[in-house]
Amino acid sequence: MSAALAPEGKTFYIETFGCQMNVHDSEKVAGVLMARGYRPVDSHQEADIILYNTCSIREKAAQKVFSRLGAFRKARSAENKIVGVLGCVAQQEGERFFERAPQVSLVCGSASYAQLPELLAQLESGNRRVTGLDLDTEDCFETEFTRRDNPFRAYLTIIEGCDQRCAFCVVPMTRGPERSRPGAKILAECRRLLDGGYTEIQILGQIVNAWQDPSPARWSFAELLARIAELRGLRRVRFTTSHPRYFTPEIVQAIDSHPVLCDQIHLPVQAGCTEVLARMLRGYSREEYLEKIHCIRAARRAISLSTDIIVGFCGESEEDFEQTVSLMAEVEYDQVFSFKFSPRPNTAALGFVDTVPEEEKARRLALLQEAQRQIQIRRNAALVGQTLEVLVEGYQVRLGQAVGRTTSNRVLNFPGKPADVGRYLNVKVTSAGPNSLVGERIGD
Ligand code: 5AD
Repeated sequence: MSAALAPEGKTFYIETFGCQMNVHDSEKVAGVLMARGYRPVDSHQEADIILYNTCSIREKAAQKVFSRLGAFRKARSAENKIVGVLGCVAQQEGERFFERAPQVSLVCGSASYAQLPELLAQLESGNRRVTGLDLDTEDCFETEFTRRDNPFRAYLTIIEGCDQRCAFCVVPMTRGPERSRPGAKILAECRRLLDGGYTEIQILGQIVNAWQDPSPARWSFAELLARIAELRGLRRVRFTTSHPRYFTPEIVQAIDSHPVLCDQIHLPVQAGCTEVLARMLRGYSREEYLEKIHCIRAARRAISLSTDIIVGFCGESEEDFEQTVSLMAEVEYDQVFSFKFSPRPNTAALGFVDTVPEEEKARRLALLQEAQRQIQIRRNAALVGQTLEVLVEGYQVRLGQAVGRTTSNRVLNFPGKPADVGRYLNVKVTSAGPNSLVGERIGD
């Protein structure tokens, strides 16, 4: 591997699409580039290397990179630049990318990011086209170079890839097999983050609770959470995304015993009807999912719940859909991310008949979103009068408002000052909408 540094003054720009794992992967890629002497810039016009970190979860997301590349090809500024594509569409399309977009010279999936320094060295030494597409890996993307974009909340990946085979989902094909990082390495990274001034850590994995300590210590995911929570200097820990199949009562017990573990769980249900869940190959029934919810609701602290839902999956009847709406009414989520089913390459569902017409998918989506809006209006209104601790994440100059986030992951705006950013403050809720709260500061 060449250790040569980038030619002097070379710059790069990364645009990221999709999930938090992608956002964090881009932070690590940026770190690797900077360690090689590249300088980050804020726009593709200024950059010598342009990287798109892509998302392939739904067709619309996957199209974004092609429309970017199309617009870019027409621009005069495109000359003499290195253009690379990373992430899930890179993995999915592989070498075909070079035909669809001839200006691309690097195609690299997330399972090959450990090879990125080598691939960059090949580009620097004049290679026109390089790829990192091997999926058969036991490696995680380990790098000491990470350029974290948020000064308070640090993302930290503990497990990469996915071994589930949900019928709708492209992720196992684009991110490769599950690889867990050793517990001791994770704790050491947390310690470094806290020493560097971060107070909130967000633990990431496609299925974060499928994490299994590969080292002889064999900690469970709940044990890992507890050990992280005991680190000094830490104020908040969140983790995402949990799969219901691996969601154990021990996770709830860990939250109960460690106040720094936030009052928030994201537990995608996808559908409320057992037959649809079986066709989706989710590995649980409606009843089994609801048991997990009851376990969370029985915690000593109120834990806020969010979920992902797909409407219009192959064969979903009107009655099946109504079961999803009734499950939402029963659980009363604090937030729901909902999507129309979109057939994806190389998934089992591609062999099923996509029975629900587009307009019907849209109708179901709108209906579900309105039902959830009403639930959120009610649940947020119940918080008026309460005093909640927020981490102040931003400040809106025009409105003179500080933007805080509660442990339950709600946005709580209040009159504040720029210097509040990064602080933990108590704020009394004075009014509530479906998506955020408004309040006033309590104390000095
Ligand atoms: N169509 C629509 N939504 C999908 N998701 C995953 N695959 C698809 C698909 N083919 C949704 C799921 C998942 C979220 C990240 O995206 O709800 O939890």
